[in-house]
Amino acid sequence: MADHIHPIFDRLLQREDRERRLNQRSKVVWLTGLSGSGKSTIAQHLERRLYNEGYFAQVLDGDNIRHGINNNLGFSEEDRQENIRRIAEVAKLYVQSGLITINSFISPTRDIRQMARDIIGDEDFIEVFINAPLEVCEARDVKGLYEKARAGQIKGFTGIDAPYEAPETPALEVRTDQLPLEQSVELIFEYLLPLITFVKPATND
Ligand code: ADX
Repeated sequence: MADHIHPIFDRLLQREDRERRLNQRSKVVWLTGLSGSGKSTIAQHLERRLYNEGYFAQVLDGDNIRHGINNNLGFSEEDRQENIRRIAEVAKLYVQSGLITINSFISPTRDIRQMARDIIGDEDFIEVFINAPLEVCEARDVKGLYEKARAGQIKGFTGIDAPYEAPETPALEVRTDQLPLEQSVELIFEYLLPLITFVKPATND
């Protein structure tokens, strides 16, 4: 190779360097579930729990992302696919930065979640099913959207007139209609702990 060519990859920091600096392994916690199942609340509390334990985590949430980077997308199947594709690409960048990302998106179909898994990589993608029966989510109706969907004011609402396909083999399932919030968060935290703990590779010196 000519002397004046300096391959940049020699000087680029690697994911491993960042993980070592942050003293954690980076992962993507992918929360999927119906609107009103408790994804956002769990995501926020999990982020806080991780922070309090010294981890560096960041929530990506449908309601926020759709006001920013994805504000040109609606809720057709195609737009949801694009919504999740972009967010999976963002999460992949975060993983390379050494961060733990908590993604909170309905991500309603198996195909959509498989796409996210393929983008992020099997090793780093932790699928968590935030599960509460539709009746429970609808009774909660935190944002009043189920009522509107039933009244026909919102078309294609997940669980009403658009599909939600439950994950078949999630890493974890959290029944938010049966567990209090703290326990739901704890369940995920305990599962994550061995996966995000940075164990220094053995060296010879
Ligand atoms: S996803 O299907 O593309 O993954 P995402 O998680 O980003 O959805 O956004 C879901 C949020 O958008 C819901 O919590 C709700 O507040 C709002 N929303 C508005 N219209 C719909 C709809 N037709 N179906 C589902 N959620 C909707």
